[in-house]
Amino acid sequence: MKKAVKCLISAGPTREWLDPVRFISNPSSGKMGYALAKAAVESGMEVILVSGPVSLPCPENVERKMVNTASEMNELMKNYFPSANLTIMSAAVCDHRPASTDHHKVKKLEVSKNITLVPNPDILEGLGKIKRPGQILVGFAAETERHLENGKKKLRQKNLDWIAVNEVAEGKGFESDKNEITMISSTGQSIFFERGEKLLLARKILDAVWP
Ligand code: CTP
Repeated sequence: MKKAVKCLISAGPTREWLDPVRFISNPSSGKMGYALAKAAVESGMEVILVSGPVSLPCPENVERKMVNTASEMNELMKNYFPSANLTIMSAAVCDHRPASTDHHKVKKLEVSKNITLVPNPDILEGLGKIKRPGQILVGFAAETERHLENGKKKLRQKNLDWIAVNEVAEGKGFESDKNEITMISSTGQSIFFERGEKLLLARKILDAVWP
């Protein structure tokens, strides 16, 4: 049992609102992050799950904090990160948000005139910058091409200990119940987990990053 290990996990998409009825988002279901939270609790860890809007029930004994936008997720992750031993960022954070959010519904003919996007903070990169010795930081890389090469780049750029690289294609990644993952570590280890249920993969990921 991995008692006294504090594990912080992010999951799901974020929503970036244009007005009260329109947002930019992505198809993340949150399944991988929720599976990680369940597996972490099973192994005895204390788990905080920072979740974007998804319809999944909260796994038992997990402390869940719901957020909506990338900015909200960033605030909570920065709050909880300093006391976490292990942090896994599996959320699909929107890289951009509308430059402004209208509080009234924008009339349809005006919508396209009003869309200017500004970059969101890279939450994981921010955590990588304040990481202390002994803390383990894990990211995900959703790639449609040159998976391993792109994954390794993100591992270095964001100062991670591990990155879980998965291919986004039809029937893989985002909405699927199954996934296939290659774990790459900052020390040069590479472990391939063949296609399987997300809960089984989650257990294998946890065993790799926190043996
Ligand atoms: N991530 C984050 N904040 C963002 C964007 C991404 O914390 N604004 C995190 C994701 O949770 C994931 C990792 O960074 O753990 C990689 O995300 P990914 O979408 O694969 O890559 P990006 O860094 O967004 O780069 P690109 O879109 O160019 O592939």
